[in-house]
Amino acid sequence: MTNETDYDALVSDAIKVRERAYTPYSHFKVGAALLAKSGKIYTGCNIENAAYSPTICAERVALGSAIAAGEQPGSFVAIAVVGDQPHPTSPCGVCRQVLYELAPGCTVLMEPPPDKGKGRLVMTVEELLPAGFKFDESEA
Ligand code: THU
Repeated sequence: MTNETDYDALVSDAIKVRERAYTPYSHFKVGAALLAKSGKIYTGCNIENAAYSPTICAERVALGSAIAAGEQPGSFVAIAVVGDQPHPTSPCGVCRQVLYELAPGCTVLMEPPPDKGKGRLVMTVEELLPAGFKFDESEA
């Protein structure tokens, strides 16, 4: 998977998993599909909670699923994110920081769901989070 056309399948996976989102509070469904260098795809949807702050975004569910399956941090090529707006939904700040650590260099494809809009925004994780936080133990 190297060019944008190839990413259509990844975006389709994000569209599909989005339907599984558990969103009784916001009713805002998000799906994410993460392509690992291994060629495997891991998906995630947002899962909300009555206490609100335990809510987890689709992107972090996909990343957690990949890491739990044995993928190494840094071994990701691209992540597709499909939100609930007529324009591309971009990852929240928390997800950007998690992507920055676990998926450096990853391409982020953002697209509205087909029934709400059109158009793909493509950025790298570093473009989404310039000067992100890194913890270097030798400096602590
Ligand atoms: N959300 C995501 O899952 N990913 C994003 O990139 C933006 C926000 C979720 C969190 C919450 O369940 C809902 O969307 C509204 O903020």
